[in-house]
Amino acid sequence: MKKILVVLGGGRPNGNTRQLVDSFIRGATDAGNDVKLISLNMTEVKGCTGCNACRYGKPCVQKDGFNELVPKIKAADLIVFASPLLFWTISSKLKAFIERFYCIAEEDPNPLLGRYEKYPVKDAALLMTSADDFFWTYEQAVSYYKFTVINYIGFHDKGMLLAGGCGDTNGKPQIDKTNHLKDAYAFGLNIYKN
Ligand SMILES: Cc1cc2nc3c(=O)[nH]c(=O)nc-3n(C[C@H](O)[C@H](O)[C@H](O)COP(=O)(O)O)c2cc1C
Repeated sequence: MKKILVVLGGGRPNGNTRQLVDSFIRGATDAGNDVKLISLNMTEVKGCTGCNACRYGKPCVQKDGFNELVPKIKAADLIVFASPLLFWTISSKLKAFIERFYCIAEEDPNPLLGRYEKYPVKDAALLMTSADDFFWTYEQAVSYYKFTVINYIGFHDKGMLLAGGCGDTNGKPQIDKTNHLKDAYAFGLNIYKN
């Protein structure tokens, strides 16, 4: 049994992304994992100001929901980052959440090349939805995830589900007309099977 924290970075209340996340959660729960969901629509997390107070042992100057999320982040084996594709990348809400990892980093006397600090070691996965479905649709989002979450922060990639072709937000969510919900269930069910 693994502890899984799913962080939903926006999207409509019962939109494509929420439905994708719910299917993943059903699969991961059916496999016996302990799954928690945080919606950044409900819990406000602002971006990092770069004040560096946290580097001098002081609490973060941002007064928002992030502090109450820190124990959940630390306890999780896997963090699932979920977002609609907005202007070809992850939502600003999810980006702000990731920026705040700065205040949970620790000093690393001997960091890897290109890294400045130490982060807790966790697994990570990416769940996204979009209207378009071109070969380049997720290029920026995947690049950000790989460089920042995997390469820089150092989490271990457990996979991505990039659900293209879910319809634009000027219409009803269309994800139920695709195979993505089935795939998300299977992704959740099998994520710790092997
Ligand atoms: C502000 C905004 C920007 C968007 N940008 C893109 C985009 O760059 N590429 C794309 O394929 N879809 C884009 N979309 C469409 C959404 O990614 C897509 O409809 C998504 O599934 C919506 O998720 P939701 O139903 O969870 O809200 C955009 C939608 C909005 C509202």
